[in-house]
Amino acid sequence: MAVLNRLFLIASLALAANAQFTETYPADGSVPTPKAEWLQLIANANIPNAPLVKANENGKAMNNSSYIVSTDNYCDWSFTGCTRETDIVTCPSGEWGLTYDDGPTEFSPALYDFLDKTQQKATFFLIGGQVVKFPDHAKRLHQSGHELAMHTWSHSYLTTLTNEQIVGELKWNELAIKEATGVTPKFFRPPYGDIDDRVRAIATALGFTPVIWDHDTNDWKVSEDSSFNVDWIDGNVTEWTQTASNGVSLEHDLYQSTVDAAIRILPALQAKYKVMPVGACNGVSPYKDGTVPVVSASASSAAASSSAPVSASAPAATASASVAPSKAVAGNNGKSASASSQPSATGESAASHTVSRTALGGLLITAALSFVFA
Ligand SMILES: *[C@@H]1O[C@H](CO)[C@@H](O)[C@H](O)[C@H]1NC(C)=O
Ligand SMILES: *[C@@H]1O[C@H](CO)[C@@H](O)[C@H](O)[C@H]1NC(C)=O
Ligand SMILES: *[C@@H]1O[C@H](CO)[C@@H](O)[C@H](O)[C@H]1NC(C)=O
Repeated sequence: MAVLNRLFLIASLALAANAQFTETYPADGSVPTPKAEWLQLIANANIPNAPLVKANENGKAMNNSSYIVSTDNYCDWSFTGCTRETDIVTCPSGEWGLTYDDGPTEFSPALYDFLDKTQQKATFFLIGGQVVKFPDHAKRLHQSGHELAMHTWSHSYLTTLTNEQIVGELKWNELAIKEATGVTPKFFRPPYGDIDDRVRAIATALGFTPVIWDHDTNDWKVSEDSSFNVDWIDGNVTEWTQTASNGVSLEHDLYQSTVDAAIRILPALQAKYKVMPVGACNGVSPYKDGTVPVVSASASSAAASSSAPVSASAPAATASASVAPSKAVAGNNGKSASASSQPSATGESAASHTVSRTALGGLLITAALSFVFA
């Protein structure tokens, strides 16, 4: 009987974990169809008629040098490195933007623990399907005061997709993060940096800001290139600290080896730069409502339970350890607001609402199952 009760509890917890999502999400990893109402958002937008970049059989955007590179009429970053004023690419001198792509994954918590322990905040570009798989990881990032940002729904090459597909990639990603955490992200990073003016215009119409990078650890090569030596990541970071006055780095919490590398290289960056999320170094809110991340009251207990060294050695990881942004933050309306007037009340209350609804759902399901099987 005890075994059965335990099974009921496990079943109800599993159901409760999914109960926090009321949306029915598209298949993980597939290019999603947008909701009809989302297409209204680009109906009157001035979207350049750039030709779709051809994809190879793996979906990879092909470097059409004769066309894209010779003209670069549409400022295609992945092939020419072209950026626009509206792209976030780097941080000011002396500052370093810390970013991690492709999570949340099963390997992410080790990185989260390390960041909590060293009280380091970063920007996480989350894949929609992964957020639906690991909503508690997304919640933890939010509660720890990191910036939550988008990395599309399916991690496809955006310049190869239709306008409608790009809307689906961004809006489903936004919705998953919103449902899991309560925040509405504004930043998105195009997978592979694959962006042109058509993608930019669609993103702008939807209220999103592109974020690229200017220092690539190439950690993503660990799975794609058998000749890649992980020590090169450390070697490159050492070179950066000797030559660069500022930057935004690209890393991935996608594999055990990339999480290990991320943990190894962080102290060198911290020793040379003021390391922070990209929104913070650019004085821009990562969220559409103009709020900035804060460490939530529940983060300290979460950190304490998941990582003993945090509570033992980092007394500042408490409710009062809010992240003080270094600059005033411009909201969506362009008005500037000071840090003190930026409570993340909207996000917090939505998140705790989700949590309590989830807990209640779990109780109800447990009660129902116990009744049926009693
Ligand atoms: C390259 O661009 C030219 C000119 O638009 C086009 O005719 C050709 O099909 C393109 N090739 C690929 C592989 O995209
Ligand atoms: C694309 O092709 C052009 C011309 O051959 C080359 O200069 C450029 O480096 C290539 N870019 C990428 C990302 O492969
Ligand atoms: C930097 O990384 C590249 C490959 O990504 C590698 O060829 C090079 O040796 C690395 N530099 C150092 C100093 O490790």
